[in-house]
Amino acid sequence: MESTLVLIKPDAFGKNYTGEIIKRYEANDLKLQALKLLKMTPELASKHYVDHIEKPFYPSLVEFMTSGPIVAMVLAGENAIGKVRALNGATNPEKAEAGTIRADFAESVTCNAVHASDSKENAAREIDIFFDKTEVFA
Ligand code: RTP
Ligand code: MG
Repeated sequence: MESTLVLIKPDAFGKNYTGEIIKRYEANDLKLQALKLLKMTPELASKHYVDHIEKPFYPSLVEFMTSGPIVAMVLAGENAIGKVRALNGATNPEKAEAGTIRADFAESVTCNAVHASDSKENAAREIDIFFDKTEVFA
């Protein structure tokens, strides 16, 4: 069994897509192990997006990610990391496959509805940023 960190970003949360997005994960045999609502701060963003700090899009990414509440969750299941990324679709919603979360709910390459971990190492690191061990029900 594998675990992954998912964030429902401010755009999707603000448009009341949270329930629909979680439903898609659950319908694909992914199980919630942790869930919370929070506001991302610039400090939290710099930890979570440590690999992107030098990228040209980083300032606009932080501005967007701190613009409203987000939903953080841990999802577990067989091949959870790859499965969630496939359900999310391509980073740019214009290139996301039909029926994916980003194709259906994202606005733009920045405001793209969801985040998901991209490796086992990053999943463990990211889960640790958002959740205390006592908040994860494995
Ligand atoms: P995520 O981390 O959110 O699951 O998305 P990802 O792996 O598909 O994309 P990544 O390359 O990790 O980029 C992280 C987030 O930064 C924003 N971004 N903007 N303007 C741009 O060119 C650009 N590229 C990336 C997106 O919000 C992306 O999800
Ligand atoms: Mg990424």
